[in-house]
Amino acid sequence: MPVTIQDLRGFKARGERFAMLTAYDFPTAQVLDEAGIPVLLVGDSLAQVVLGYDSTIPVTVDEMLHHTRAVARGTRNALIVGDMPFMSYQVSVEEGLRNAGRFLKEGGAHSVKIEGPQIELAAAMSERGIPVMGHLGLTPQSVHLFGGYKVQGRSEEQADRIRYWAKELEEAGAFALVLECVPAALAAQITRSLSIPTIGIGAGPDCDAQVLVINDLLGLTDGQPPKFVKRYADVRTLIGDAAKRYASEVAAGEYPGPEHSYS
Ligand code: KIV
Repeated sequence: MPVTIQDLRGFKARGERFAMLTAYDFPTAQVLDEAGIPVLLVGDSLAQVVLGYDSTIPVTVDEMLHHTRAVARGTRNALIVGDMPFMSYQVSVEEGLRNAGRFLKEGGAHSVKIEGPQIELAAAMSERGIPVMGHLGLTPQSVHLFGGYKVQGRSEEQADRIRYWAKELEEAGAFALVLECVPAALAAQITRSLSIPTIGIGAGPDCDAQVLVINDLLGLTDGQPPKFVKRYADVRTLIGDAAKRYASEVAAGEYPGPEHSYS
């Protein structure tokens, strides 16, 4: 059965924690959907982990839509969230609505995610039938404003702002809220104060749900991952080893064998 935003509210009401994962392509979406992951985020982390940019800033709406369509083709049940890229919604509410509409009409997403306290836009989307997920804390599109990928909400002033915006986003109609890299105690407090689910990433164990970038979870990302990442596999080594075995069998004349050849 396709997952709906009402199902997510039900999970929260019943105290059932759930998982969201990013997906950027057709086969990964198929596997995650078949594994029963209820929410797939076509994250703008695509920029870094798939397209090789050094931040999420350069990725365009067209690039995001290309990948959102692939994910939609591989998904039967999961709720698909399309992540709106930098400057596709910050300039005006009208432009934000138009671009959000593209994620649903052209991308096959069921909802969109926006970063920061975009309260007016969140309300305008909700009024027009576009389900919107908020994202507060370390919002990567503001990396240059923050001076790096730093935990947000450690000072009382920052924590107050995040608490206030979380409530405002809920009141504006957001159906869920990502909390990224905030102290666990702050995330727990916000989670208790909202009726919509919070989805944590580097926000401790007390959020209603968790999200990870699939490449991080699989061990596909190069280098040292952030503290909050748990690697559940070492796919980078797996791919490298398989490629080396293949190349050495080709060099030795062992592949292809008769069983891989046509008569
Ligand atoms: O783009 C992304 O992958 C995200 C998640 C980390 C929440 O926004």
